[in-house]
Amino acid sequence: MPQLALFDTPFGELQLSRRPHRERETLQAWDAADEYLLHHLASNEIAADSRFLIVNDSQGSLCTALAAYNCTLWADSAIAQLSANENCTGNHRKAPEFIPATDIPQGAFDYILYKLPKSRSLLKYQLQHLAALVSLPERFIGAAMARHIDQNVVAAFSDYIAPARPSLARKKARLIQLQSAPQSTAIDDDIKTITLPEHDLTLHNRANVFSRDKLDRGSRLLLQGMDKLLHPQRVLDLACGNGLLGVYAARKWPDASVHFFDDSFLAIDSARKNVVANSIAADANIRFSADDCLSNYDGEAFDLILCNPPFHQDHHVGDHIAQTMFRDSVKHLAPTGRLCVVGNRHLGYHVVLKKLFGHCDIIESDSKFVVLLAYR
Ligand SMILES: C[S@@+](CC[C@H](N)C(=O)[O-])C[C@H]1O[C@@H](n2cnc3c(N)ncnc32)[C@H](O)[C@@H]1O
Repeated sequence: MPQLALFDTPFGELQLSRRPHRERETLQAWDAADEYLLHHLASNEIAADSRFLIVNDSQGSLCTALAAYNCTLWADSAIAQLSANENCTGNHRKAPEFIPATDIPQGAFDYILYKLPKSRSLLKYQLQHLAALVSLPERFIGAAMARHIDQNVVAAFSDYIAPARPSLARKKARLIQLQSAPQSTAIDDDIKTITLPEHDLTLHNRANVFSRDKLDRGSRLLLQGMDKLLHPQRVLDLACGNGLLGVYAARKWPDASVHFFDDSFLAIDSARKNVVANSIAADANIRFSADDCLSNYDGEAFDLILCNPPFHQDHHVGDHIAQTMFRDSVKHLAPTGRLCVVGNRHLGYHVVLKKLFGHCDIIESDSKFVVLLAYR
C-alpha cells in the first residue's frame, strides 16, 4: 500500500502518495511552490468551467487539488501520469487528461500552471511551445523553489516566451509571472545528435535526455563490460535514456529481443529513433514502454537487465529509484538471469545487490565507477 500524507489546500484536504512507492517514505508529493500556486489561484475568482493546462506536476498534487476544473496535464514523466491518476482516484476526484511531452497541447486554455523542470533543454522546449498557448499573460503562472530560479532561467523566459519576473518568496518558493504577451518565436529542433565512432553508434537525444551532449562515463564503462556477458535471448534496457545500451545489445546479439523502459517519454522517443539510426534489423524483436521502473510490467522474464540507474528524482538526490529498480529486477529476471549495473563506487550498490541476489561480481571498474553483475 502506498504511504499517504495529508496536503491541506485551499481546494480541500488531500491524501497524497508519491512514486516510486516505498516503505517509510520521507519525501512529500508536493512542495512549497505547489502550495504558493494554489494559494495564489484561490485569491482569484476562477470560473467553474475554466480549462487548466498543468505542466510538470510531478506527483499529481496540482491536478488533484484542481480536479473540479477541466484539467490537462502535460509532462515528460510516466510517474507524473501514474501519480495524477492514483492521487485523483484516491481522493475521489476526476483524473486529468494526459498529454506526454512528445505531443504538443492544442487549443485554448484559461490558465497555464508551469512547474519549472530541472532540465534546461526541457525548459526551452516547453516554453517555446507554450508561447503559442498563452491567452493573457497574467493567466500564465510559473512556480519553483527560489533556489532553482537563477539568471539563466529568467533569461530563458525572455528568449522563448516573454520577459518574466519572479515574485517575492513564500516558504522559499517563488511564482514567475510574464510581464507582457508572448511573441511566438520559431521552434528549434530539440534533437541533439552525437556520434561515437569507437562504438559505431549515432545517438539522437531529444530534450530532457540524460547526458545528451556526450557519452556518460558510467555508460561507457557499462558498454565495455557488455563484452564479458553471456549471449542472452531476452534483454531489458532499464532506465534506457537514449537507449544506447539496448541498441548496442540489439546489434551485438541480433537474435535477442530488447525491451526499452524509461520514465521519460522523450527518452523513449530517442531510443526509438536510435534503433532506426543504428541499423537494427526491421524485423528485430524490439519494444518500448514508459513506466515507473517496472511497475506495470507483467510479461516474460528477462535473461539480462542492463541498468545505469538514476541518482536523483528532480532535485532530490538519492538511490531510492535505483533500489526500486533492483527489487523490480529480482522479480522479472529468469532464475539464471543477470542484472548488469553501473554505478559510482561510493554508492555501494554491490552491498544492496549481494543482499538481494546472493551474488554480485565486479566485471569492470575505473577510478570512479564499477560495473556489477548480480545473479542468484
Ligand atoms: C543515469 S540515466 C541512464 C540513461 C542511459 N541508460 C544511459 O546509460 O545513458 C537514468 C535514466 O533513468 C530514467 N528514470 C528516472 N526515474 C525512473 C523511473 N522511476 N522509472 C524508469 N526510468 C526512470 C531517467 O529518465 C534517465 O533516462
